Amino acid sequence: AAPSWRHTKADVVQPPILSTTSMPEASLPKDFLWGFATASYQIEGAVHADGRLDSIWDTFCRKPGKIADGSSGEVACDSYNRTGEDIALLKDLGAKAYRFSLSWSRIIPLGGRNDPVNQPGLDFYVKFVDDLLAAGIVPMVTLFHWDLPDALDKRYGGPLNKEEFTQDFVHYARTVFEAMGSRVKHWITFNEPWCSAVLGYNVGVFAPGRTSDRSKSEEGDSSTECWIAGHSMLLAHAMAVKVYRDEFKERDGGEIGITLNGDWCEPWDTDDPADVEAWQRRLEFVIGWFADPIYFGHYPASMKRQLGDRLPNFTPDEAELIKGTNDFYGMNHYCTNYIRHRSDPADANDFGGNVDVLQENKAGEAIGPPTQAVWLRPYAQGFRKLLNWISERYGGPKIYVTENGTCILGENDKSREEILEDEFRVWYFRTYIQAMAEAVGVDGVDVRGYLAWSLLDNFEWADGYGTRFGATYVDYEGGQKRYPKKSAKTLREIFEGLIKKE
Ligand code: NOJ
Repeated sequence: AAPSWRHTKADVVQPPILSTTSMPEASLPKDFLWGFATASYQIEGAVHADGRLDSIWDTFCRKPGKIADGSSGEVACDSYNRTGEDIALLKDLGAKAYRFSLSWSRIIPLGGRNDPVNQPGLDFYVKFVDDLLAAGIVPMVTLFHWDLPDALDKRYGGPLNKEEFTQDFVHYARTVFEAMGSRVKHWITFNEPWCSAVLGYNVGVFAPGRTSDRSKSEEGDSSTECWIAGHSMLLAHAMAVKVYRDEFKERDGGEIGITLNGDWCEPWDTDDPADVEAWQRRLEFVIGWFADPIYFGHYPASMKRQLGDRLPNFTPDEAELIKGTNDFYGMNHYCTNYIRHRSDPADANDFGGNVDVLQENKAGEAIGPPTQAVWLRPYAQGFRKLLNWISERYGGPKIYVTENGTCILGENDKSREEILEDEFRVWYFRTYIQAMAEAVGVDGVDVRGYLAWSLLDNFEWADGYGTRFGATYVDYEGGQKRYPKKSAKTLREIFEGLIKKE
């Protein structure tokens, strides 16, 4: 039989799946790690506490017009001051694991390898990890979830300077491994470097908001910076993994990997070979950009062809260094889109693989119902297809789904009582987790964990607070009180039904 990700016409024309047929084989392994995920700048607040200095997101939010509601992460969910509450919440919900990120700006406020380490910042996370462990919750720690110390952006352009950035990142990583390595067994170097590179250095809607080389020539997109930023992050990942393996792995026995963007897509017009080709190219430009070097030691051919010498090269030593640097594959997954080839060269957008990303196909059919985010249309079987695609392409790696979740159209305009009855999110989690369990139990994909995005409603970057991704409602005006939504309480039941007892 054809692998399930391989596109057939029936896949595309089929209407949104509103319930998945339950398959008895769908199941998850006994020690499956499930829980919730967050990121430092989105929840912590307390941006000036205990020696923390600005990250690029603090400075970006101060620029008028950058954030939809003019907000910032200055207070966010105040999680920096509510660690006890958050851990109690995780425990109540039955979570086995918690994925969170460290704010580099708390630990080394100026960021660099010759800058001072801020002991109170480091101590905060060490204590947090201890408290999680005491509550029986497994910590999964992301080193970089987009909040680069602002000083490094000002000093040398952050990841635009490969030499400086990689060395500073490695120093930061080593500092953290030393302090917490005996306690933390699951490390993630970078979260969605595609977003940092493309949205931060090309489109400019994310910090640091650079669009400087976006001017288009007659031939189309002439971008260079996002490819350089991506290249530096890949090397910084590889170097941090080497440090972990050489200096800590034997002592600590943990594992380390990267978390990549992982949305699925389908061709806009299955009868048009250009769209079918664009669909494959898109997956390579978003996922292969980072995963191919990590698993194969080189960039995808489609990228080299399209970008020419704007795509940096790996020296043979670098290729050697980067190949094989994932102990596990961290996959963030939200939705499926349709992909249409852009045929006008003057209109090329290289960062996306030169495609349009659409929510309806040629026949005008939607892939799934709308949500509060234009890019997010749920289609649970897309999750299963992508899991299979990754598993096949990269040789069956161990996968953690490090994020999966949804926002709801108009959720923020509802009353608290209504928000707590989040049937749409319950449906999303049920169908998506079922699809994942089919990928595992039926297709044989090696998924070991699942972290729902997100534990809390939080600062949704350029969309501010109006887009809520939380399984828990946060009453920002009402003393930051946390109210678990129905979906948060349903996860335990969903997982109990799918995780094997033996
Ligand atoms: C992925 C990002 O890692 C996370 O920070 C963000 O909030 C979610 N996507 C939802 O957009």
